[in-house]
Amino acid sequence: MRLDDVRDDLTDVLLTEEQIHDKIAELARRIEADYAGRKPLLVGVLKGAVMVMADLARELRMHIDMDWMAVSSYGAGTKSSGVVRILKDLDTDLSGRDVLIVEDIIDSGLTLSWLLGNLQSRGAASVKICALLRKPDAAKVEVDVEYIGFDIPNDFVVGYGLDYAESYRNLRGVAVLAPHVYE
Ligand code: XMP
Ligand code: MG
Repeated sequence: MRLDDVRDDLTDVLLTEEQIHDKIAELARRIEADYAGRKPLLVGVLKGAVMVMADLARELRMHIDMDWMAVSSYGAGTKSSGVVRILKDLDTDLSGRDVLIVEDIIDSGLTLSWLLGNLQSRGAASVKICALLRKPDAAKVEVDVEYIGFDIPNDFVVGYGLDYAESYRNLRGVAVLAPHVYE
């Protein structure tokens, strides 16, 4: 789906498909250099990271493994509580592996901070994070992110994997959702 297809549902367009593609290529070149001679395990966090993972994995000119986790925050409402439940765990044994967590967005940072600790405790040789988006103004905990695409304002955004009520994930760009959609 193109931004124009749902333009009335969006206020600001933050990122076009081209901008995202260029940034992912840039991150891929750094990852190739940093993991040269190794075969990292990319861990995608379902469902939001599906698009980033698909594009990053195909952009990388090296062998990788891919696995997926699904997690969910406990607690009421839409805000992350920091208490995380594993809905789908990895199939891969992490001992001695170089793990790269692939995420769509870092909001409060609570989910990733928990995930980082969880994966580190499984005997991985290294655990690093790659996230396409980050909202610096929403941070509740500092998370050390090795590869970051874009810092964005503290608004609710959709597209490129990010949803509102499961819609808009297939939007090619990233945009701020207009309040009339959810109010
Ligand atoms: P925390 O707050 O733990 O949560 O960093 C990150 C997760 O919250 C979701 N999230 C969003 N989803 N638009 C979305 O569609 C947003 O603006 C947004 N902000 C946070 C997302 O699942 C992310 O993994
Ligand atoms: Mg997510």
